Amino acid sequence: MKASAPGKIILFGEHAVVYGRPSLAVPVTQVHADVEISDSASAGIWIQAPDINLHAELNTLPSDHPIASVIHNLFFLSRVSPFPNLNIKITSTIPVASGLGSGAAVTIALTRALSAYINYSMTDEQINAFAYEIEKLHHGTPSGIDNTVITYSKPVYFIKGQPIETFQVAQPFTIVIGDTGISAPTKESVGNVRKLWDADRASWELIFDNVGGIAKRARDAIESGEWKQLGELMNQNHVLLQGMTVSSPELDQLVIAANNQGALGAKLSGGGRGGNMIALVEPNQAEVVAKSLVEAGAKRTIITQIS
Ligand code: MEV
Repeated sequence: MKASAPGKIILFGEHAVVYGRPSLAVPVTQVHADVEISDSASAGIWIQAPDINLHAELNTLPSDHPIASVIHNLFFLSRVSPFPNLNIKITSTIPVASGLGSGAAVTIALTRALSAYINYSMTDEQINAFAYEIEKLHHGTPSGIDNTVITYSKPVYFIKGQPIETFQVAQPFTIVIGDTGISAPTKESVGNVRKLWDADRASWELIFDNVGGIAKRARDAIESGEWKQLGELMNQNHVLLQGMTVSSPELDQLVIAANNQGALGAKLSGGGRGGNMIALVEPNQAEVVAKSLVEAGAKRTIITQIS
């Protein structure tokens, strides 16, 4: 049994989305997590995840291990007992702790493969709700945007706790993703922002309102194909993210390089402090902007079309 889940990028609204403001995110199918499950000749559930150097039997892992917790929770929910003997192979091309949703993608691919293997049928809504509970175990106070965009694998206009909404893309547009190569767990940046918000809620709520306003205007710009306006909104969102202390010199350098090379706008994407940034470009500029990102220190780039 095989299942796969894409990566994702947040176009607008990261962090503020945790506090109820709208955010826009899209799947990135160029990177994905893949899970393959087969019967095991040896007793137990054997997990092989070469990308994180893991080869272990389920019971030797701590029960709060991200992969173990998916398996335990799903078997509990589906009342599978005793556990079957299985080999689970997990591979992923999504860099870990980079803002591209690697954790949620592994959770969702594993949930899909395992539920199909044990014949426990789950709707997308159930998979999304299950993945959100797993995200909470590992990320503290996630908004749920990562599991939502990855489960449904389509563009989402997301407000925490509200039914999912997709948005229309007037014409396909091109994004260059630049990876600083610096691993930065979302849990830490989200936790730091929470401390700062807690110390001065009034000022932070205003910042979040501004970010939310940008996300709304960005949706309009995408739906009407106003790319110049969309690029400017990206730059404005990045400045607010800098004020929220979640950018870094490396991210800023990539944003500047993209804009100097003629991108329509650029910003960090995801939890920040490392990980990835994105730049909106005219399609024929994508390669030169990607090259300028590498020259400015990006460890890798992805060119993706949003449609
Ligand atoms: C992480 O992809 C996006 C954040 O807003 C956290 C969250 O929404 O859970 C930083």
